[in-house]
Amino acid sequence: MIVDEKIEAYSAAHSSPLPPLLDALAERTRAETTAPQMMVGRLEGNVLRMLVSLTGAKRVVEIGTFTGYSALCMANALPADGELVTCEIEEKHASIARDFFDKSPDGSKIRLRMGPAIETLRGLPEQAFDLVFIDADKEAYPAYYEESMRILRHGGLIVADNVLWSGRVLAPGDASSRAIVAFNERVRTDDRVEQVLLTVRDGMMLARKK
Ligand SMILES: C[S@@+](CC[C@H](N)C(=O)[O-])C[C@H]1O[C@@H](n2cnc3c(N)ncnc32)[C@H](O)[C@@H]1O
Repeated sequence: MIVDEKIEAYSAAHSSPLPPLLDALAERTRAETTAPQMMVGRLEGNVLRMLVSLTGAKRVVEIGTFTGYSALCMANALPADGELVTCEIEEKHASIARDFFDKSPDGSKIRLRMGPAIETLRGLPEQAFDLVFIDADKEAYPAYYEESMRILRHGGLIVADNVLWSGRVLAPGDASSRAIVAFNERVRTDDRVEQVLLTVRDGMMLARKK
């Protein structure tokens, strides 16, 4: 967490409420998983929901479901005929996500795809999606970016989480940090997009395909 925790809580408290089911999901995630901090949490979840609303997205792809928190935030802003494809590799995570997708009125908009995300992405059609949220294994961010650009329509938005990697981007010493630095550099030098790196939580890259 880069932003002061009290400031983060204040910001979340002054943002629109999320569906109460998400509190129950967060509680179960904390009780049953070893890395609950992987959830985007209330503030970033709200930002994601707002981005889906603002862009009018109808078709969304998420790379990294975990227990479904961010998927349910984004699905909440999708129209009834909207669709969110979310990719996960760990059955233990997916089974909690499935439980909560079943309990949520937004769950019917969500399609959970099991397996390596890169393979799922390669099976998706070109220029068919409005928004892609990248939030899985950091070393694959550069590869996820290229596939996301392929499946995204012109004017569509890529959102990538953890692009500040707790500040390690300033002195990258391990493979994940180096991959995130390579990703950020790729976006910065890519004429196909316009982008802004937001200092929300652990860093959110917004890259709009021209
Ligand atoms: C940071 S968590 C996602 C958090 C989620 N977006 C949320 O806010 O609750 C990353 C997830 O990606 C999954 N994952 C890791 N490598 C993957 C891969 N190669 N393909 C698909 N999912 C993967 C992990 O099991 C984990 O559940």
